[in-house]
Amino acid sequence: MVNVALLGFGTVGSGVAEVLTRNGDLIDSRVDDLVRLKYIKRAREVFDGPYQDLFVKDFSIIEQDPQVDIVVETIGGTGAALDYTTRALKAGKSVVTANKELVATHGYELLQLAKEHGVSYLFEASVGGGIPILRPLTSCLAANDLTQITGILNGTTNYILTRMIQAGLTFEQALKEAQDKGYAEKDPTADVDGHDACRKICILAALAFGHHVYPDQVPTEGIRHVTLGDAAYADSKGYKIKLLGRAIRQPEGKVCAFVAPHLVADTAPLAGVEDVFNAIAVTGNAIGDVMFYGRGAGKLPTASAVVADVIDIAKDLKRDRHNGWASGSPDLVVSDDGLT
Ligand code: HSE
Repeated sequence: MVNVALLGFGTVGSGVAEVLTRNGDLIDSRVDDLVRLKYIKRAREVFDGPYQDLFVKDFSIIEQDPQVDIVVETIGGTGAALDYTTRALKAGKSVVTANKELVATHGYELLQLAKEHGVSYLFEASVGGGIPILRPLTSCLAANDLTQITGILNGTTNYILTRMIQAGLTFEQALKEAQDKGYAEKDPTADVDGHDACRKICILAALAFGHHVYPDQVPTEGIRHVTLGDAAYADSKGYKIKLLGRAIRQPEGKVCAFVAPHLVADTAPLAGVEDVFNAIAVTGNAIGDVMFYGRGAGKLPTASAVVADVIDIAKDLKRDRHNGWASGSPDLVVSDDGLT
């Protein structure tokens, strides 16, 4: 039996519970063990609904329960999420997260902590929502010298820019529509001002190039100042305005990273990425150009990536228990250089 504790029960957290429940038999058969949701930590006093027996308020119940193998952090931010992640790793529990802010700012130290305690810290869902990108970057493309990453990394802003062209909405009208559909973060500033995309390009650059790149080092401009007139004019000239995050490895080894609205020619694949979809183009010296495309935001797409990490760890646990010893993550290994 592999026991999972879920921290937070917002959009992503409830999606994780839903996927673990709905696909439970499938997941158990893939892990060849029972993967059980044992606790859900949430702040609200009133607990009801199908998971009411699992709800707890106090994190120390999870921290002190030796049966909890995997903690899934969906709280967000760097306050309680950092505290609980640190405590869970120190207690010998692997942690899975979609929290790009925490990974971008503290990922290196948390990976080191995980390694020290022989557990895993996985964060596939932190970039590109449901799109498999981090594991392909570190395993399927491991034979490449990677030189460039360019991505539409934020679903909300891509939705806004798409709706400005498709429906002639102003920035404010399109943002309201994105919020009504539940795409935008609680505070849309992180989306519209490019901070969310900035965190994601930092994570991608660290994994692809093995260098720390921190958000405050990355010049970042969002789409708040893009007007309907700008978008329509670009469209009339055969371009789409897209918010791109880019990371380019310089010949001397330094990394140049930035986030800004770009004019993308209609003939380029990224111009056709619409709505809440994300796309990440990667260049490697063996594979050439490769592009990852899919739903970059939303409850179930994000939960898909989170639960995939849970399954990976559960498979490792099953194998390790079988072999009689424990190991850390095979995919995301900390080097002196940063995240590799
Ligand atoms: N608010 C984010 C986005 C969610 O719109 O892309 C996924 O990280």
